[in-house]
Amino acid sequence: MKLSLSIFSGLFCASTALAATKPHPYLFNKRVQVKEPLVERYVPNQSFKHPELEKRASRWLTEKTKEFAVNGSAIPEVPWDIGESYAGLLPISDAEDETRKLFFWFFPSTDSDLHEEIVIWLNGGPGCSSLSGFLTENGPFTWMAGTAAPVQNPYSWTNLTNMIWIEQPVGVGYTQGTPNITDEVELAQEFIGFYKQFVDAFDAHGYKVYVTGESYAGYYVPYIADAFIGANDTNYYNLAGISINDPIIGDSVVQQQVVIFPFVEYWNNILYLNDTFMEQMRKRQAECGYTELIDTYFTFPPKEEPFPVLPDPFGYENETIICDMFDNLYSALIEVNPCFNLYHISETCPHPFSQLGIINSGDYTPPNTQVYFNRTDVQEALHAVVGTNWEQCSSRNVFGNGNDSSYAGDASPGPAVNGVLQRVIEYTNNTIVGSGNLDMILPTNGTLFALQNMTWNGAKGLSEYPNLPVYAPYHPEYNGGSLAGSGYQGYWTAERGLMFYTAQLAGHELPGYTPGVGYRMLEILLGRVANFSVEAPFTTQKGDFTGNGTIYRRSMQLPSMAF
Ligand SMILES: *[C@@H]1O[C@H](CO)[C@@H](O)[C@H](O)[C@H]1NC(C)=O
Ligand SMILES: *[C@@H]1O[C@H](CO)[C@@H](O)[C@H](O)[C@H]1NC(C)=O
Ligand SMILES: *[C@@H]1O[C@H](CO)[C@@H](O)[C@H](O)[C@H]1NC(C)=O
Ligand SMILES: *[C@@H]1O[C@H](CO)[C@@H](O)[C@H](O)[C@H]1NC(C)=O
Ligand SMILES: *[C@@H]1O[C@H](CO)[C@@H](O)[C@H](O)[C@H]1NC(C)=O
Ligand SMILES: *[C@@H]1O[C@H](CO)[C@@H](O)[C@H](O)[C@H]1NC(C)=O
Ligand SMILES: *[C@@H]1O[C@H](CO)[C@@H](O)[C@H](O)[C@H]1NC(C)=O
Ligand SMILES: *[C@@H]1O[C@H](CO)[C@@H](O)[C@H](O)[C@H]1NC(C)=O
Ligand SMILES: *[C@@H]1O[C@H](CO)[C@@H](O)[C@H](O)[C@H]1NC(C)=O
Ligand SMILES: *[C@@H]1O[C@H](CO)[C@@H](O)[C@H](O)[C@H]1NC(C)=O
Ligand SMILES: *[C@@H]1O[C@H](CO)[C@@H](O)[C@H](O)[C@H]1NC(C)=O
Ligand SMILES: *[C@@H]1O[C@H](CO)[C@@H](O)[C@H](O)[C@H]1NC(C)=O
Repeated sequence: MKLSLSIFSGLFCASTALAATKPHPYLFNKRVQVKEPLVERYVPNQSFKHPELEKRASRWLTEKTKEFAVNGSAIPEVPWDIGESYAGLLPISDAEDETRKLFFWFFPSTDSDLHEEIVIWLNGGPGCSSLSGFLTENGPFTWMAGTAAPVQNPYSWTNLTNMIWIEQPVGVGYTQGTPNITDEVELAQEFIGFYKQFVDAFDAHGYKVYVTGESYAGYYVPYIADAFIGANDTNYYNLAGISINDPIIGDSVVQQQVVIFPFVEYWNNILYLNDTFMEQMRKRQAECGYTELIDTYFTFPPKEEPFPVLPDPFGYENETIICDMFDNLYSALIEVNPCFNLYHISETCPHPFSQLGIINSGDYTPPNTQVYFNRTDVQEALHAVVGTNWEQCSSRNVFGNGNDSSYAGDASPGPAVNGVLQRVIEYTNNTIVGSGNLDMILPTNGTLFALQNMTWNGAKGLSEYPNLPVYAPYHPEYNGGSLAGSGYQGYWTAERGLMFYTAQLAGHELPGYTPGVGYRMLEILLGRVANFSVEAPFTTQKGDFTGNGTIYRRSMQLPSMAF
C-alpha cells in the first residue's frame, strides 16, 4: 500500500489505499482501466465514511509503527508500488542500554481477509541474511540470479498471510551490535526478545505465529519455536506450526557424507562422472562403513535402536580424510562441470550474476556491480543504518562470542537428536519438512535419515518412504519473469504431526525453484488446504479460473522454432 507523505501530518489520501488492492496498471496489462479514486480526508481515530475505504485502511499503521513505514513506490530499481510494508531495526530486549538490534521487513497480507497470524521466514548459514530468501524465494518481488531486473512475484507468501523476514542473529546483514552468543539456546533468547518488541510495536498480541526457514534455519527454526513454547506466553508467542526446507537437523555425517554417493549415482546421467572414478568411490563408500549404515538403518519403518554415530571424517585423529565423500565427489564434479552448483545440481556454465553478491569461493561477479542491499539508496528506503556493510552471508562469526577470528561454531546439537524438534512437533502437530531433490548440499535422503532416528508422538521415524504425489496447482496468470511448475512435482507423506514433502526439480532454495510447491506448502501450514494431494486451485485464485491450466502455454499456437 502506498503511503503518502500526508499521513504523517494527519492527512491520509485513502484513495491510494484502495487503488493498491486493484491490479496495478503497469503490472500485467497496460490497458486495465483504473477506477476513479475515492478521496476522503483521514482524521486520526476516526473511521472513513466510505465503507470501502474503511475496509482498506491499514490496521497496521499507527503512531508506534509509522517510523518503520516503507514507501512502496520508492524501492530502488522497482518501478511499481510494492504495497504496504514496514522495515527497520528493533532491539532484542527492553533494556534501556540495549545495543543489539535485529532487522525486519514486514508485509501485511494482501489477502482481504484479516488473518490474525504472522509467518516468520529465516535463511540459514549460519550467518546468512533472510533478505536473500525475500529477493530470490518468497518475497513480493524477486530478483533472481542472472536476470536484469526485479519482477512482481505471483507466488509471494504475502498473498496468503502477514509475512516478516528477519535478519538474525546479531552480526548478520543490517543487524546492529556485537555478536556474543555461542549456541542456539542463546540465539533463541535473542530472537524472542526481539519478537516481543515487534508484537508490542505492531499490536500483534495473541496472533498465531509460524516459524519457517531453510538450510541452517533447520537449527534456528526448531530452537526458536522451542523457546516460544518454553516462554509459556501465548500473548506473545502463540506458536501454531513450523516449516523447514532443505534443513540441517541432525548428524552432519549422516546428512551429508553417507548419502552423497548414492545421490551422485542417482543423478549421474546429468553429472557425468566417469565409470573408473565411480567404481573407486563405490569401494570407498563401503570401506568407510557408509554402505552398511544405509543398508542397515535407512529403512521405513526404522530400527528401534539408536543409529550409531560414525566418525567425523574431518576428525583430528587421522591424517587423511578419505571418508570425506562430499569433497571427493565435489572436486570431481567441478572438473566435469566447472560451474557445478551444489545447491542446484542441474546448472551448467556460465555462472549467473547474483544481486546478492558472491557467497562461495569460485562464484563470479562482474566488475563494477553493486550488491543490492549494500546500496545506500536501498538502505535508506528500508531504514537500515546507512553504510552498514551488508553481506549475504556475514564474514563475522555469529557464534564466536564477539571474537570474529575465533573458530568456535554453534555449540548446540541438531534439534533432531536432542528432543527439541520432537517437542515442537508434539506441541503443534503442525511441522512440515521439505526437500528439493536437486540439492546436493543437504540431500533429501540425508534429511529423511535424520528423521528416521527421531522419536515423536510415541513412535520412531516414518513407517513409509514418501510416496503420495505432491500436486502444485496450475496458475492462470502469466508473468514471464516469475514462472512456477504445475502438476505433479514430488512426493509427500505425513505421520503423527509431521509432514514431509519433496520437489523433484527444486534445488536448495525450494520456494525459489518451485514457487508453486512452496506456496501450496504455506497453504497447508496455515490450515487452508489439507495436504499436498489436494488438486484444487490455490486458495487465493479468485474469479472465474476453472483449473484448466495455464492460459499462456495451452492457448498459444506453437511458434516456429529458431535454431
Ligand atoms: C514515495 O515515493 C514516491 C516516488 O519516489 C514519491 O513520489 C512520494 O512522494 C513518496 N511518498 C512519501 C510519503 O514519501
Ligand atoms: C487516538 O486514540 C488513542 C487511544 O484511544 C489516544 O491515545 C490518542 O491520543 C488518540 N489520538 C488522537 C489524535 O486523538
Ligand atoms: C551479551 O552481552 C549483553 C550486553 O553486554 C549481556 O547482557 C548478555 O548477557 C550477553 N550474552 C551472552 C550470551 O553472553
Ligand atoms: C513454563 O512452564 C513450565 C512448566 O509449567 C516451567 O517449567 C517453566 O519454567 C515455565 N517457563 C517460564 C519462562 O515461565
Ligand atoms: C533415496 O532413497 C530411496 C529409498 O531408499 C531410493 O530409492 C532413492 O534412490 C534414493 N535417492 C537418492 C537420490 O539417493
Ligand atoms: C540417533 O539418536 C540418538 C538419540 O536418540 C543420538 O544419540 C544419536 O547420536 C543419533 N544418531 C545419529 C547418527 O544421528
Ligand atoms: C581413523 O581411521 C581409522 C582407520 O580407518 C578408523 O577406524 C577411525 O574411526 C578413524 N577416526 C576418525 C576420527 O576418523
Ligand atoms: C575420471 O574422473 C576422475 C575424477 O574426476 C579424474 O581424475 C580422471 O582423470 C577421469 N578419467 C578420465 C579418463 O577422464
Ligand atoms: C558494501 O559497501 C561498503 C561501504 O558501505 C563497502 O566497503 C563494501 O566493499 C561493499 N561491499 C560490496 C560487496 O560491494
Ligand atoms: C498430536 O497428535 C497425536 C497423535 O499423533 C495426539 O496423540 C496428540 O494428542 C496431538 N497433540 C496435540 C497437541 O494436538
Ligand atoms: C497473488 O496476488 C496477486 C495480486 O493480487 C495475484 O495477481 C496473484 O495471482 C496471486 N497469486 C496466487 C498464487 O494466488
Ligand atoms: C475447462 O474449461 C471448459 C471450457 O472453458 C469448461 O467448460 C470446463 O468446465 C473446465 N473444466 C474444469 C475441470 O474446470
